[in-house]
Amino acid sequence: MTHTLDPVVPADRTSRIRSAWRAAWDEGRVEALDDLLSPSYVRRRGPAAVAQDRDQFKDSIRAVREAFPDLRTEIEDIVEDGDRIAIRWRSTGRHTGAFLGVPPTGKPVEVSGATFTRFDGSAVTEEWVTFDSRQLLEALGIVTTTQRAAIDPDLVRGVHRKFITGVTVVTTDDDGTPRGLAVNAFSSISLDPPMVLVCVQRSSATHPALHRASHLGISILAAGQLDVAKTFASKGEDKFAQVSWTPGTHGAPLIDGSCAQLEVEIGERLEAGSHTVFTGRVVSARHDDLAPLVYSGGGFFDISHTAPLPW
Ligand SMILES: Cc1cc2nc3c(=O)[nH]c(=O)nc-3n(C[C@H](O)[C@H](O)[C@H](O)COP(=O)(O)O)c2cc1C
Repeated sequence: MTHTLDPVVPADRTSRIRSAWRAAWDEGRVEALDDLLSPSYVRRRGPAAVAQDRDQFKDSIRAVREAFPDLRTEIEDIVEDGDRIAIRWRSTGRHTGAFLGVPPTGKPVEVSGATFTRFDGSAVTEEWVTFDSRQLLEALGIVTTTQRAAIDPDLVRGVHRKFITGVTVVTTDDDGTPRGLAVNAFSSISLDPPMVLVCVQRSSATHPALHRASHLGISILAAGQLDVAKTFASKGEDKFAQVSWTPGTHGAPLIDGSCAQLEVEIGERLEAGSHTVFTGRVVSARHDDLAPLVYSGGGFFDISHTAPLPW
């Protein structure tokens, strides 16, 4: 009687991926990836994100699992084409540990994405990963998809008129041409690092230049600069011909005689309703001993005529 032994067939690539993913993502045994990923492995997430090596990838899986200990990743589709494999996946887990600076919410989170894997022989040398980051941000409550508000805009406008602000001129150098507009939607975000924000309507003529700029200037107008506020609240083609200004150290035009000035390296450009919120890091700052121009209820005021309250 003869016995034929089955030859030892190495597991095919797709089943090796399935079992390494299950071990690493679902069970936290990230060492299982060492059998699949080459020591020179690179994981890419697009031009803006920093590429990861194998150890950094394993660290990132550990961090995700600390935030989502019950993480489950389901491979929904896997397609092989020569040395390349495309994987469509869906991960679910409950957010019980801090993640992306968000304290635990206890919320169930679901993220879907695709990974494109390239083998060199028996090891994966490169992966491209893409996933719906907005789905993740919404699930964590970082962003909320706004519904149309059933509230009278005049009522909201009336509320805003009760809020007192200063007036700034937000500027940028647009390839040699100074551009700017009057903005009272300015706020400090943080002091360490020093960050601020401004909100600019997308319909503004200055908006496209601000959007493509790396830096913007913010000049807080002094009480004596009502004419400057009016100029920059207008739609004039060459507003800068009517005022005296000086380029800042980072190139943004700064209005002479204003009581304080900042230059900001733009970080994020967040689309919000009719406006873009520009956030950024303060890279230069100065202020003078001048009273600021005040804006309230549609009118301008000189703060030096107000009475300080004891507190
Ligand atoms: C006191 C004051 C505050 C303003 N604040 C803002 C603001 O925060 N954001 C904004 O987009 N427009 C604001 N505007 C309106 C713009 O300055 C105005 O629409 C300007 O004409 C835009 O110029 P541009 O189209 O040349 O960019 C403000 C206007 C005034 C008078």
